Amino acid sequence: MKHYAVFGHPVEHSLSPRIHAAFGRETGIAIDYTALDADIGSFRQRLAEFTARGGVGANVTLPLKQEALALCADVTERARRAGAVNTMVRNGDQWHGDNTDGEGLVRDLTGRHALDLRARRTLLIGAGGAARGVAPALLDAGIGDLYIVNRTSAHADALADQIGQPGRVHPRHLADIGSLGEFELVVNATSAARGDGLPTLPRSLVGRRMAAVDLNYGEAAVPFLAWGRASGAYAVVDGLGMLVEQAALAFARWHGVVPETDIIYGELRAEHS
Ligand code: ATR
Repeated sequence: MKHYAVFGHPVEHSLSPRIHAAFGRETGIAIDYTALDADIGSFRQRLAEFTARGGVGANVTLPLKQEALALCADVTERARRAGAVNTMVRNGDQWHGDNTDGEGLVRDLTGRHALDLRARRTLLIGAGGAARGVAPALLDAGIGDLYIVNRTSAHADALADQIGQPGRVHPRHLADIGSLGEFELVVNATSAARGDGLPTLPRSLVGRRMAAVDLNYGEAAVPFLAWGRASGAYAVVDGLGMLVEQAALAFARWHGVVPETDIIYGELRAEHS
């Protein structure tokens, strides 16, 4: 049997083995998919061992997505633009890298949540790995201007440079967030709730019919989603659907079938409301 795995650190609480097992049941494809712990120092070695055991596909989560890009012989255009790989496909004797995070988010927002993203003036808070993964896909989905605010403004500048659409993408310092006007889509891509706490988000950001989207789910999404509700956002969305959709796109890369996602999403939603 072919082997699949998710690599990360920590990885023991990853939902990916459960999601891929559900996709396997749903499509009738036998799946051997496990969670393998690796940190940045050990990833190359763990991946080589996995390959030697017959590993042919891998997902990559924190903190390994940039390292994964470096270990792939070639990567898709969207992985290159994101500067990160979340899906690896064995191709002959080499690893090929892809990034399904951004398209996963867009599928969740436009499909499951029926949001029309086109021309939405968008604020992306954060410029780390999570932000890099989704920014190109949001732009491709037709959002309007994209403002990227970050605590360290050099990181926002670097992300905007990497995207390379200066007329449309505007990096700003987090301290200037009060002067940016109203938004129709606000995306929290920071890990702030897991650390020092979410920065204060002023009322002036809140546009009419604003959607508030957190790439996190569970406890880490609670403060931002509470802000969205208190601000009167008409759509408040966490990252659980994105997690399921990026997994479905990875599954499709490996098995050639896009699985139905509603059943496993419903199960996980019942546990992470
Ligand atoms: P991830 O892969 O989850 O995005 P990351 O690459 O470490 O993790 O990025 C974390 C993001 O959250 C960064 O944009 C970080 O801001 P800095 O670039 O200034 O470090 C942001 N972040 C983390 N804690 C924060 C806080 N307390 N307030 C504001 N932003 C924070």
